[in-house]
Amino acid sequence: MNQATVIDGVAVSNKLRHEVSTRAAELLNKGVVPGLAVVLVGDDPASAVYVRNKVKACEQHGLRSTLDRLPAETTEGDLLNRIAELNADATVHGILVQLPLPKHIDSHKVIEAISAEKDVDGFHVANAGALMTGSARFKPCTPYGVMKLLEAYNIPVSGKQAVVIGRSNIVGKPMALLLLEAGATVTICHSKTADLAAHTRNADIVVAAVGKRKVLTGAMVKPGATVIDVGMNKTDEGKLCGDIDFPSVVEVAGYATPVPGGVGPMTITMLLVNTLESAELFAAQNEK
Ligand code: GUN
Repeated sequence: MNQATVIDGVAVSNKLRHEVSTRAAELLNKGVVPGLAVVLVGDDPASAVYVRNKVKACEQHGLRSTLDRLPAETTEGDLLNRIAELNADATVHGILVQLPLPKHIDSHKVIEAISAEKDVDGFHVANAGALMTGSARFKPCTPYGVMKLLEAYNIPVSGKQAVVIGRSNIVGKPMALLLLEAGATVTICHSKTADLAAHTRNADIVVAAVGKRKVLTGAMVKPGATVIDVGMNKTDEGKLCGDIDFPSVVEVAGYATPVPGGVGPMTITMLLVNTLESAELFAAQNEK
Protein backbone atom coordinates (compact mmCIF):
# COMPACT_ATOMS: atom_id res chain seq x y z
CA MET A 1 0.00 0.00 0.00
CA ASN A 2 1.27 3.47 -0.88
CA GLN A 3 1.83 5.91 1.93
CA ALA A 4 -0.40 8.98 2.14
CA THR A 5 0.73 12.31 0.73
CA VAL A 6 1.64 14.41 3.75
CA ILE A 7 -0.06 17.80 3.49
CA ASP A 8 2.46 20.60 4.00
CA GLY A 9 0.68 23.27 6.03
CA VAL A 10 3.84 25.36 6.28
CA ALA A 11 4.19 25.62 2.49
CA VAL A 12 0.50 26.49 1.93
CA SER A 13 0.71 28.98 4.80
CA ASN A 14 3.81 30.68 3.42
CA LYS A 15 2.15 31.21 0.06
CA LEU A 16 -0.94 32.78 1.66
CA ARG A 17 1.19 34.86 4.05
CA HIS A 18 3.13 36.24 1.09
CA GLU A 19 -0.19 37.45 -0.37
CA VAL A 20 -1.07 38.99 3.02
CA SER A 21 2.22 40.96 3.01
CA THR A 22 1.53 42.26 -0.51
CA ARG A 23 -2.01 43.35 0.33
CA ALA A 24 -0.90 44.92 3.63
CA ALA A 25 1.68 46.98 1.70
CA GLU A 26 -1.06 48.12 -0.72
CA LEU A 27 -3.17 49.23 2.24
CA LEU A 28 -0.22 51.08 3.72
CA ASN A 29 -0.08 53.12 0.48
CA LYS A 30 -3.62 54.24 1.31
CA GLY A 31 -2.51 55.18 4.84
CA VAL A 32 -4.09 52.19 6.60
CA VAL A 33 -2.06 49.75 8.69
CA PRO A 34 -4.12 46.61 9.45
CA GLY A 35 -4.34 46.35 13.23
CA LEU A 36 -5.03 43.34 15.44
CA ALA A 37 -5.62 43.68 19.19
CA VAL A 38 -4.97 40.50 21.13
CA VAL A 39 -6.14 40.11 24.71
CA LEU A 40 -4.87 37.38 27.00
CA VAL A 41 -6.29 36.97 30.50
CA GLY A 42 -4.35 34.86 32.99
CA ASP A 43 -1.16 32.87 32.64
CA ASP A 44 -2.04 29.61 30.91
CA PRO A 45 1.32 28.66 29.34
CA ALA A 46 -0.16 27.16 26.13
CA SER A 47 -2.31 30.26 25.54
CA ALA A 48 0.74 32.48 26.10
CA VAL A 49 2.61 30.59 23.34
CA TYR A 50 -0.34 30.77 20.89
CA VAL A 51 -0.77 34.49 21.52
CA ARG A 52 2.95 35.20 21.11
CA ASN A 53 2.91 33.38 17.76
CA LYS A 54 -0.10 35.41 16.59
CA VAL A 55 1.58 38.71 17.49
CA LYS A 56 4.86 37.63 15.86
CA ALA A 57 3.08 36.63 12.63
CA CYS A 58 1.45 40.07 12.45
CA GLU A 59 4.81 41.80 12.80
CA GLN A 60 6.32 39.63 10.05
CA HIS A 61 3.59 40.43 7.52
CA GLY A 62 2.97 44.16 7.79
CA LEU A 63 0.15 44.11 10.35
CA ARG A 64 0.26 46.09 13.56
CA SER A 65 -0.61 44.18 16.68
CA THR A 66 -1.04 44.99 20.33
CA LEU A 67 -1.09 42.50 23.17
CA ASP A 68 -2.91 43.13 26.44
CA ARG A 69 -1.76 40.67 29.06
CA LEU A 70 -4.27 40.97 31.88
CA PRO A 71 -3.90 39.24 35.26
CA ALA A 72 -5.98 36.13 36.03
CA GLU A 73 -7.94 38.12 38.65
CA THR A 74 -9.19 40.62 36.03
CA THR A 75 -12.92 41.12 36.55
CA GLU A 76 -15.44 40.53 33.80
CA GLY A 77 -16.35 44.22 34.01
CA ASP A 78 -12.75 45.33 33.47
CA LEU A 79 -12.40 43.03 30.48
CA LEU A 80 -15.67 44.30 28.98
CA ASN A 81 -14.42 47.89 29.46
CA ARG A 82 -11.19 47.09 27.63
CA ILE A 83 -13.16 45.52 24.77
CA ALA A 84 -15.33 48.66 24.55
CA GLU A 85 -12.15 50.74 24.16
CA LEU A 86 -10.84 48.48 21.41
CA ASN A 87 -14.24 48.53 19.64
CA ALA A 88 -14.02 52.33 19.56
CA ASP A 89 -10.38 52.44 18.40
CA ALA A 90 -10.26 53.17 14.64
CA THR A 91 -6.71 51.78 14.34
CA VAL A 92 -7.94 48.33 15.46
CA HIS A 93 -9.55 46.22 12.71
CA GLY A 94 -9.52 42.91 14.53
CA ILE A 95 -10.00 41.93 18.18
CA LEU A 96 -9.07 38.53 19.52
CA VAL A 97 -9.66 37.46 23.11
CA GLN A 98 -7.74 34.25 23.64
CA LEU A 99 -9.84 31.37 24.96
CA PRO A 100 -10.26 29.73 27.40
CA LEU A 101 -10.92 32.57 29.83
CA PRO A 102 -10.65 32.15 33.63
CA LYS A 103 -13.75 30.48 35.08
CA HIS A 104 -15.15 33.61 36.78
CA ILE A 105 -15.54 35.30 33.37
CA ASP A 106 -18.50 34.45 31.10
CA SER A 107 -16.85 33.88 27.73
CA HIS A 108 -20.18 34.12 25.85
CA LYS A 109 -20.72 37.60 27.26
CA VAL A 110 -17.17 38.60 26.31
CA ILE A 111 -17.46 37.30 22.74
CA GLU A 112 -20.78 39.08 22.27
CA ALA A 113 -19.19 42.33 23.52
CA ILE A 114 -16.67 42.32 20.66
CA SER A 115 -17.94 44.36 17.71
CA ALA A 116 -19.06 41.82 15.07
CA GLU A 117 -17.18 43.93 12.48
CA LYS A 118 -13.92 43.32 14.39
CA ASP A 119 -14.55 39.70 15.44
CA VAL A 120 -11.78 38.16 13.31
CA ASP A 121 -12.21 34.84 15.16
CA GLY A 122 -15.74 34.62 13.75
CA PHE A 123 -17.14 33.56 17.15
CA HIS A 124 -19.76 36.31 17.67
CA VAL A 125 -23.35 35.02 17.23
CA ALA A 126 -23.84 37.44 14.33
CA ASN A 127 -20.85 35.89 12.54
CA ALA A 128 -21.75 32.33 13.54
CA GLY A 129 -25.28 32.98 12.20
CA ALA A 130 -23.92 34.48 8.98
CA LEU A 131 -21.73 31.39 8.52
CA MET A 132 -24.74 29.14 9.05
CA THR A 133 -26.81 31.00 6.47
CA GLY A 134 -24.01 30.87 3.91
CA SER A 135 -22.93 34.52 4.03
CA ALA A 136 -19.97 34.45 6.38
CA ARG A 137 -18.10 37.67 7.06
CA PHE A 138 -15.28 36.10 9.13
CA LYS A 139 -14.86 32.34 8.98
CA PRO A 140 -13.35 30.85 12.16
CA CYS A 141 -9.62 30.57 11.49
CA THR A 142 -8.93 26.87 12.06
CA PRO A 143 -11.78 25.45 9.93
CA TYR A 144 -11.13 28.14 7.31
CA GLY A 145 -7.49 27.00 7.23
CA VAL A 146 -8.57 23.38 6.78
CA MET A 147 -10.70 24.36 3.76
CA LYS A 148 -7.68 26.19 2.29
CA LEU A 149 -5.54 23.05 2.71
CA LEU A 150 -8.13 20.92 0.89
CA GLU A 151 -8.26 23.54 -1.87
CA ALA A 152 -4.46 23.74 -2.16
CA TYR A 153 -4.23 19.98 -2.72
CA ASN A 154 -7.25 19.90 -5.07
CA ILE A 155 -9.05 17.48 -2.78
CA PRO A 156 -12.69 17.31 -3.89
CA VAL A 157 -15.32 18.04 -1.25
CA SER A 158 -18.58 18.29 -3.18
CA GLY A 159 -20.53 15.03 -3.11
CA LYS A 160 -18.08 13.45 -0.64
CA GLN A 161 -18.74 11.94 2.77
CA ALA A 162 -17.12 13.99 5.52
CA VAL A 163 -16.86 13.16 9.21
CA VAL A 164 -15.95 15.81 11.76
CA ILE A 165 -14.91 14.42 15.14
CA GLY A 166 -15.61 17.09 17.76
CA ARG A 167 -18.43 19.57 18.22
CA SER A 168 -16.74 22.67 19.67
CA ASN A 169 -17.86 26.17 18.73
CA ILE A 170 -14.27 26.99 17.70
CA VAL A 171 -13.64 24.07 15.34
CA GLY A 172 -16.15 21.19 15.11
CA LYS A 173 -19.38 23.07 14.42
CA PRO A 174 -17.99 25.70 12.00
CA MET A 175 -15.93 22.99 10.27
CA ALA A 176 -19.09 20.98 9.61
CA LEU A 177 -20.83 24.08 8.22
CA LEU A 178 -17.97 24.92 5.85
CA LEU A 179 -17.82 21.34 4.55
CA LEU A 180 -21.60 21.35 4.14
CA GLU A 181 -21.42 24.66 2.26
CA ALA A 182 -18.81 23.08 -0.03
CA GLY A 183 -21.22 20.25 -0.89
CA ALA A 184 -20.10 17.44 1.40
CA THR A 185 -22.47 15.10 3.22
CA VAL A 186 -21.41 15.80 6.79
CA THR A 187 -21.59 13.74 9.96
CA ILE A 188 -20.52 15.22 13.30
CA CYS A 189 -19.21 12.65 15.77
CA HIS A 190 -18.33 13.36 19.39
CA SER A 191 -17.70 11.80 22.79
CA LYS A 192 -21.22 10.30 22.91
CA THR A 193 -21.03 8.73 19.44
CA ALA A 194 -21.65 5.00 19.87
CA ASP A 195 -19.43 3.59 17.12
CA LEU A 196 -16.97 6.17 15.80
CA ALA A 197 -15.19 3.74 13.47
CA ALA A 198 -18.46 2.83 11.72
CA HIS A 199 -18.70 6.48 10.66
CA THR A 200 -15.06 7.18 9.86
CA ARG A 201 -14.64 3.99 7.76
CA ASN A 202 -17.18 5.38 5.27
CA ALA A 203 -15.68 8.88 5.15
CA ASP A 204 -13.75 10.39 2.25
CA ILE A 205 -12.65 13.23 4.54
CA VAL A 206 -12.13 12.98 8.30
CA VAL A 207 -11.35 16.02 10.44
CA ALA A 208 -10.26 15.14 13.96
CA ALA A 209 -10.76 17.99 16.42
CA VAL A 210 -11.24 16.57 19.89
CA GLY A 211 -8.06 17.32 21.81
CA LYS A 212 -7.36 13.68 22.64
CA ARG A 213 -4.52 11.51 21.39
CA LYS A 214 -5.08 8.58 19.01
CA VAL A 215 -8.84 9.01 18.54
CA LEU A 216 -8.34 7.85 14.97
CA THR A 217 -6.13 4.95 13.90
CA GLY A 218 -5.41 3.53 10.45
CA ALA A 219 -7.90 0.69 11.03
CA MET A 220 -10.69 3.31 11.27
CA VAL A 221 -9.83 5.00 7.94
CA LYS A 222 -11.15 4.22 4.47
CA PRO A 223 -8.27 3.54 2.04
CA GLY A 224 -7.38 6.71 0.14
CA ALA A 225 -9.31 9.05 2.45
CA THR A 226 -8.10 12.50 3.47
CA VAL A 227 -7.39 12.85 7.18
CA ILE A 228 -7.00 16.28 8.76
CA ASP A 229 -5.64 16.51 12.29
CA VAL A 230 -6.59 19.63 14.25
CA GLY A 231 -5.36 18.26 17.60
CA MET A 232 -2.70 19.92 19.73
CA ASN A 233 -1.78 17.50 22.49
CA LYS A 234 1.36 16.47 24.31
CA THR A 235 2.89 12.98 24.37
CA ASP A 236 4.01 11.52 27.72
CA GLU A 237 7.47 12.85 26.82
CA GLY A 238 6.06 16.36 26.37
CA LYS A 239 6.28 16.42 22.55
CA LEU A 240 3.52 18.09 20.50
CA CYS A 241 1.15 15.58 18.89
CA GLY A 242 -2.27 15.58 17.28
CA ASP A 243 -5.49 13.60 17.64
CA ILE A 244 -4.66 10.87 15.13
CA ASP A 245 -2.28 7.96 15.26
CA PHE A 246 -0.21 9.33 12.40
CA PRO A 247 2.02 6.26 11.68
CA SER A 248 -0.95 3.92 11.18
CA VAL A 249 -3.12 6.52 9.39
CA VAL A 250 -0.48 7.31 6.72
CA GLU A 251 -0.41 3.62 5.79
CA VAL A 252 -4.09 3.78 4.74
CA ALA A 253 -5.02 7.40 3.93
CA GLY A 254 -4.52 9.18 0.61
CA TYR A 255 -3.68 12.49 2.30
CA ALA A 256 -2.89 13.32 5.92
CA THR A 257 -1.80 16.38 7.86
CA PRO A 258 1.09 16.11 10.33
CA VAL A 259 1.33 17.74 13.77
CA PRO A 260 3.24 19.99 13.87
CA GLY A 261 3.32 21.48 10.36
CA GLY A 262 -0.24 20.78 9.23
CA VAL A 263 -3.25 22.76 10.38
CA GLY A 264 -1.41 24.77 13.09
CA PRO A 265 0.32 27.32 10.81
CA MET A 266 -2.91 27.74 8.82
CA THR A 267 -4.87 28.93 11.88
CA ILE A 268 -2.60 31.94 12.35
CA THR A 269 -2.48 32.57 8.60
CA MET A 270 -6.27 32.80 8.38
CA LEU A 271 -6.26 35.18 11.34
CA LEU A 272 -3.95 37.43 9.32
CA VAL A 273 -6.27 37.10 6.30
CA ASN A 274 -9.38 37.97 8.34
CA THR A 275 -7.68 40.98 9.95
CA LEU A 276 -6.39 42.18 6.59
CA GLU A 277 -9.85 41.83 5.01
CA SER A 278 -11.41 43.74 7.89
CA ALA A 279 -8.87 46.55 7.35
CA GLU A 280 -9.51 46.51 3.58
CA LEU A 281 -13.23 46.94 4.21
CA PHE A 282 -12.51 49.76 6.66
CA ALA A 283 -10.26 51.48 4.06
CA ALA A 284 -12.90 51.08 1.31
CA GLN A 285 -15.61 52.57 3.55
CA ASN A 286 -13.40 55.54 4.38
CA GLU A 287 -12.52 56.20 0.73
CA LYS A 288 -16.13 56.89 -0.12
N1 GUN B 1 -8.18 29.18 21.79
C1 GUN B 1 -7.91 28.10 21.01
N2 GUN B 1 -8.09 28.40 19.71
C2 GUN B 1 -8.50 29.69 19.66
C3 GUN B 1 -8.85 30.56 18.59
O1 GUN B 1 -8.84 30.20 17.41
N3 GUN B 1 -9.22 31.82 18.96
C4 GUN B 1 -9.26 32.23 20.25
N4 GUN B 1 -9.63 33.48 20.51
N5 GUN B 1 -8.94 31.45 21.28
C5 GUN B 1 -8.56 30.17 20.97
